[in-house]
Amino acid sequence: MSAGEGIASARLGNWIEGFEGDAAERGQTRAQWELLRIHWAGKKQGVVRGLLEEIKRIEPEQRRAYGEDVNRFKEHVERRLSAIDAALAAREREAARRAAAVDVTLPGRRPALGSLHPVTLVIAEMEQIFAEMGYSVAEGPEVEDDYHNFEALNFPADHPARDTQDTFFLEDGLLLRTHTSPVQIRTMLARRPPIRVICPGRVFRNDNDLRHSPMFHQVEGLAVAEGITVGHLKGTILAFMRRLFSPETDIRMRPSFFPFTEPSAEVDVTCQNCRGQGCEVCSGTGWMEILGCGMVDPRVLAGCGIDPDVYSGFAFGMGVDRVAMNRYGIPNIRLLFDNDERLLRQVRG
Ligand code: DAH
Repeated sequence: MSAGEGIASARLGNWIEGFEGDAAERGQTRAQWELLRIHWAGKKQGVVRGLLEEIKRIEPEQRRAYGEDVNRFKEHVERRLSAIDAALAAREREAARRAAAVDVTLPGRRPALGSLHPVTLVIAEMEQIFAEMGYSVAEGPEVEDDYHNFEALNFPADHPARDTQDTFFLEDGLLLRTHTSPVQIRTMLARRPPIRVICPGRVFRNDNDLRHSPMFHQVEGLAVAEGITVGHLKGTILAFMRRLFSPETDIRMRPSFFPFTEPSAEVDVTCQNCRGQGCEVCSGTGWMEILGCGMVDPRVLAGCGIDPDVYSGFAFGMGVDRVAMNRYGIPNIRLLFDNDERLLRQVRG
């Protein structure tokens, strides 16, 4: 190896060492690689470009060796830059693949299933039982007038029984129905006997505490035909309660008063919490108060154009919410109407 070549090699060696040191530091990311490339191989001000310019100032006899070193360095820089570029590109592809990959071992997201409200479930159950007994479902408006909610049900104006209803009055003589009984009137005005309907729906009373909500639900029943007796009424209610609760369930009827029925009764059902033993739910009586009923007052029939000398009927009205609370172990009526999703999830299925 000549002296000249040795110097040239040492020079080339220094250049390469300088480049490699920089490449080791800056070859890690795309942005840094770009700076590395501009610094060393940039067309205008790159290091290699500068070394090429230098050639003019090199002694003529050393130009050839110098030129060879610069060319070899240039090749080295280009080769290494493209190698680093390829390595970065491979790394980028791998990162993109990972980002896009589907982890098939992840548990799936469960779709949030809707469910029916406990009150809806209980109403559906009641409708089903009565459907099997030949009843159809009738519905009426929640905004009623005085005639259907009171007058036609034999609550004359100023009758004290109106006070028991805690009515929400609206404008123009309208009101929120205080019970489902007006649907009886609408049905009897529209249809001729024999009639067998139940009327589920919302009712409203200005009453709000732990056991009462200003909106609650009733299911009304009405049967009108020739020869209907209290025996039919009692038999129907007993059969219904035994289907709804259990075959051991009993009922008892207590005399009561409703303007639209005569005679009238309230019906108690064996407390489902203690099976009649007496507990806090039934205040120690063993009975749950569930339903009002009676024989449709002849005045009500006549008012609807049904001849009370030919036809008779029974009617009943029951609260649904307490049955739902009892069925699903819900201690407070508010829970039914707060729309807390957690309650619905517990009741589901
Ligand atoms: N409408 C009554 C109430 O809300 C319940 C009721 C009692 C309905 C006796 C009836 C009935 O049909 O015969 O308190």
